[in-house]
Order: sequence, then structure tokens, then C-alpha cells
Amino acid sequence: MKKSFVFAAGLISLAGLAFTLSSGQVTAQKKGKTRPMTTAQLMSGLVKPQLGVLQEQLADEKTPEGEDGWKAVTTSIALLNESGHIMMEDDRCPDKIWADACEVLRKATETALSKAEQKDAAGVRESIAGISASCKACHTEHKYKKK
Ligand code: HEC
Repeated sequence: MKKSFVFAAGLISLAGLAFTLSSGQVTAQKKGKTRPMTTAQLMSGLVKPQLGVLQEQLADEKTPEGEDGWKAVTTSIALLNESGHIMMEDDRCPDKIWADACEVLRKATETALSKAEQKDAAGVRESIAGISASCKACHTEHKYKKK
């Protein structure tokens, strides 16, 4: 009687641990809590294409062409900035590494936006490095590392 109680209690706490490890940490990175969009969709549909626009518009020594070019650049930077907010919402953020990477993304895009307002192509190009650093900081821990 006593033994089986201890055994059952052990099983329950093991199940609790497994639940914490699997649903608590992993799903927070793959999806938020209530909204349907997965992190992979956010990345492939929003984040990556916007970084692509910036890289294309500012590659090598290029300057965005005319009002349309600068409009495309500022729109992409604003969407990247917004992504840095979305990634923190709906219980998607699992830890400080994630939160810090999002902050780097938001700060770098704010700088990029002010450079773009002055049509400073070199300035925007410089802040792309900061934007890319945020991708790397989060991916190293949360995309490539299997937990
Ligand atoms: C705060 C964390 C975080 C930041 C910042 C971040 N990512 Fe991700 N990214 C992830 C995670 C987590 C995955 C893996 C998602 C999965 O497989 O469920 C991922 C996956 C991806 C993928 C693969 C998507 C797919 O279809 O499987 C691409 C592409 C990507 N990220 C691009 C970027 C780019 C570009 C940036 C920077 C501008 C960036 N990410 C910034 C967390 C982040």
C-alpha cells in the first residue's frame, strides 16, 4: 500500500517534469500560446523576406532608387521592427536570450529607420549588421540547438 503510493507519486512528478520540459519550453519557441501562426511561418513569411529586401536594395555600394526604393526599405525595416514585438507576445518568449535578441532587433531597426529617414544608405547598411546579429543570437540557442 505504502510502496505503491510512493511509486504513483513518483510517476506523477515524472509526468509533471516531462510536461514542463516538452510543452513548457519547446512549444513556446515553435508557436505562441493562443494565436495560430508558428514561429517558422513568422520567419519564412515575414522576417526573412524583409531582410532580403534590405540586402537587395543596399547590396554592395547600392543606394535605394528614388522614393519607391526608400519606401520599400522603410517598410521592410518597420516590419522587422514589428516582428521584434510579435516575437515577445502570446507567451512565445521562453528566456532572456530570446528577449535580448528581440531587443537587439528592435533597437537596430529603430536606428535603421532614422538613417532611412535621412536617406543615409551607408547608415542603413551598417545597421543591417545589427539586425543580422539578432537573428544569429536567437538562432544559435533556439533554432539549431535541440533540447
Ligand atoms: C527571438 C528569436 C529569433 C530571432 C530574433 C530570429 N529568429 Fe529566425 N527562427 C527562430 C526560431 C525559434 C526558429 C525555428 C522555428 C521552428 O523550426 O519551429 C527560426 C527559424 C528561422 C527560419 C527557418 C524558417 C522555416 O521555414 O523553417 C528562417 C529563414 C529564419 N528563422 C530567419 C530569421 C532572420 C532572417 C532573422 C533576423 C532578421 C531571424 N530569423 C531572427 C527564432 C528567431
